[in-house]
Amino acid sequence: MFDIPHLDLPPLRGAAGRVRLPGSKSISNRVLLLAGLAEGETEVHDLLGSDDTRVMLQALQALGCGLQRDGAVLRVRGLGGRLQVHEADLFLGNAGTAMRPLTAALAVLAATQGGRFTLRGVPRMHERPIGDLIHALRPLGCSIDELGQPGYPPLCVHGQAGGRLQTQQPIRVRGDVSSQFLTALLLALPLVADAAPVVIEVDGELISKPYIEITLKLLARFGIAVQRDGWRRFTIAQGSRYRTPGAIHVEGDASSASYFVALGAIAATRSALRIEGVGSDSIQGDIAFVDAARAMGAEVQSGPGWIEVRRGRWPLRALALDCNHIPDAAMTLAVMALYADGPTRLTGIASWRVKETDRIAAMATELRKLGAAVNAGDDFIEVAPPARWQAAAVDTYDDHRMAMCLSLAAFNPLAGANPAQPLRIRDPQCVAKTFPDYFETLFGLVQADPAEVPVITVDGPSASGKGTLAAALARRLGWHFLDSGAVYRATALAAGQAGVALDDEAGVARVAAALDLRFDGSRIWLAGHDVSDELRRESTGALASRVAALPAVRRALHALQLSFRRAPGLVADGRDMGTVVFPQATLKVFLTASAEERAKRRYKQLISKGIQASIADLRADIEARDARDQSRVAAPLKPAEDALRLDNSQLGIDESVDAVQQWWQQRNPLDRA
Ligand code: DC
Repeated sequence: MFDIPHLDLPPLRGAAGRVRLPGSKSISNRVLLLAGLAEGETEVHDLLGSDDTRVMLQALQALGCGLQRDGAVLRVRGLGGRLQVHEADLFLGNAGTAMRPLTAALAVLAATQGGRFTLRGVPRMHERPIGDLIHALRPLGCSIDELGQPGYPPLCVHGQAGGRLQTQQPIRVRGDVSSQFLTALLLALPLVADAAPVVIEVDGELISKPYIEITLKLLARFGIAVQRDGWRRFTIAQGSRYRTPGAIHVEGDASSASYFVALGAIAATRSALRIEGVGSDSIQGDIAFVDAARAMGAEVQSGPGWIEVRRGRWPLRALALDCNHIPDAAMTLAVMALYADGPTRLTGIASWRVKETDRIAAMATELRKLGAAVNAGDDFIEVAPPARWQAAAVDTYDDHRMAMCLSLAAFNPLAGANPAQPLRIRDPQCVAKTFPDYFETLFGLVQADPAEVPVITVDGPSASGKGTLAAALARRLGWHFLDSGAVYRATALAAGQAGVALDDEAGVARVAAALDLRFDGSRIWLAGHDVSDELRRESTGALASRVAALPAVRRALHALQLSFRRAPGLVADGRDMGTVVFPQATLKVFLTASAEERAKRRYKQLISKGIQASIADLRADIEARDARDQSRVAAPLKPAEDALRLDNSQLGIDESVDAVQQWWQQRNPLDRA
């Protein structure tokens, strides 16, 4: 996850591969609530792990449901419709899929069994309307206090044990602001339909009908039959009781699929992009996004649990579409419109205004930053592709979908942007609401021109702290990190294992060329074994310094090191990163801490690990290593001509990182703008 203030994307030019989608948010939170209310234990497979499901789980736990993780399976022991806990203060973040149905369910339970529950969220949650639901519940006899603004959370629902609800008359709810109010009632009222059927009637035109379909399908899985007359009247059968289906699988998120369908339509020019976890058998309405993408020119094939997309028509075909049926995925169409042959007009999107942010206003503002001409009204947006693309820093409004769809604007070179423009996504971690690994997943699929992927090189002598500096900088920028010393260390280790003598240049070079090395966070794997600790040993370093002096070995490792230059960027540390491997690096840093200072640092490191050492010996070692690295013929250690020198003898790590980050900002067009 990129828990950083912003993430810069270089221009992107292609996409290929396979993506497995995280579970659907809408299904996950409905299933959790149903399992929490039902009698018996439900085994939930493939549940989405995200902010919105986390707050739902916390709420269920606070209400006394049993939750047990078992690998990828979550077991939920439900309440069987009986409150275990009669007072709780629930924090629901910005999850509408938790706030609305929990309000209804707890209002009904408190009114009949007694209790007092407070439901609150982040400030934006307190700006998202819930009045229509309150007005539907009050006539039943539910007591609901608005603790802030009338019609908005936070709320307190309360009641006395033994209360009875007025369910003889149809319960009326507005359907034209958010379909979640109807969903909330459909999920809550089976709790009080034991003696007589309960009828819900919808006032106004019901929006987002496919979400109601999901609700009805999941209710059926939990044993609740609802008779639907058109989209106006819903009857919950008398004698309804939630019963666990035993096990239930959450399908992949169809709204999340939209970003990858769009990615395929825009950038999969050579082979189709494969999306797994959701497909033609999906119960999610947003799967209909596929038809809209097809209408814009995507070539799509699908089957149960999968979709394959490649670019068809290019540029994409501009579209006029009523998006009432795909409100969330429609945002992705607004970004695809940047790549179309004319203005695209999306209508029926009034619900965008009450989502995580006012999405119509937000989308219009951000698309304009990219250079698009945008016209927006109460329930529509019209987007004409940029005549001139701009490098932009886009805001995401704590809205996961803003971040995910706007990332697709990085493919501007494919729309002929000249020059190709980088893109800044502010607050990228907001994707955690539904898709915590979105950017990692995206970067695993995309291709950039290596020359356009920024590289910062950090070279310097042994124990200068370059590894620590480079790794910390990579984390701050959200970039990849290459510890090239580890590549030489691994080569020395692999040569030893293969019984190749370290002075057998051709032999070691063959080992280097076939190196099976995998970097995984801070762990390093050689031929399937975790060798991280072994690699860091002083003795391995000494062997590495010998193999590193062999020109054939350096040549053999060249391509491997280059392959680390991938979107969104690379920080590489070593001896010759700026001089030999990445001579075109955007920023080159050369560290120059004194041998004495470096010996002291290494001494502290060793002592803290309980290893005996002497500063004088360490210093002698470091000087010998320096001499060997500097005097060797192949890629000797020396600063690149255009390197900036940083003497970090007196600097802490954060100060060193700050210094280099400032140099980078001076060169980064997105910071200078
Ligand atoms: O940075 P380090 O201590 O992990 O490096 C181990 C050895 O590898 C060191 O003696 C120098 C050599 N090396 C190199 O020659 N070129 C690099 N880019 C990185 C390391």
